[in-house]
Amino acid sequence: MSKSLVIYYSLQGHTKRVAEMISSKTSADVFRIELEEDYNLGTVLDVSKQHIKNQYKPILKSSNLNFDDYDHIIIGTPVWWYTYVAPIRSFLQNHSLKGKTVRFFSTHAGANGSTFTDLEELTIGAKIREPRGFYTYENFSWDTIENEVNNWLDE
Ligand SMILES: Cc1cc2nc3c(=O)[nH]c(=O)nc-3n(C[C@H](O)[C@H](O)[C@H](O)COP(=O)(O)O)c2cc1C
Repeated sequence: MSKSLVIYYSLQGHTKRVAEMISSKTSADVFRIELEEDYNLGTVLDVSKQHIKNQYKPILKSSNLNFDDYDHIIIGTPVWWYTYVAPIRSFLQNHSLKGKTVRFFSTHAGANGSTFTDLEELTIGAKIREPRGFYTYENFSWDTIENEVNNWLDE
């Protein structure tokens, strides 16, 4: 039977919450990408900008994830500086998506930028399904996001 895994990084909780919605709808397992030294809100604007510019790969906490067990992978990222966050780059460096079915999602404040086309460059040999961005800024509602998540997964 096909097994699904939702993988995400989240600093402020929005991407985490969407990952949990997806998991409860699909019964997918969930894996949170964690850094040895996480970003902090005081410096994240500058530090993340440098990390993106330099294609830096921050060191992840070790884990017991059995990635090979899963054939459907859903990957969530906040949008930082119009693209995906550096911890996703670290993760995908060590976990090949070749042969897997992959869906990406983002959470963002209105400017998704090149997030999905940039991510797709990292997925040689994967079967990519339609990605989806979820707006989490002024006047957003979790009910709206939940509907959007359900519609997306039903596509
Ligand atoms: C360093 C930084 C850069 C950001 N850059 C963007 C951006 O380029 N476009 C955008 O729409 N939102 C941007 N945002 C907003 C986040 O994408 C949004 O708040 C997201 O939901 C945060 O996810 P999280 O709560 O899981 O960490 C940025 C936020 C931070 C902290």
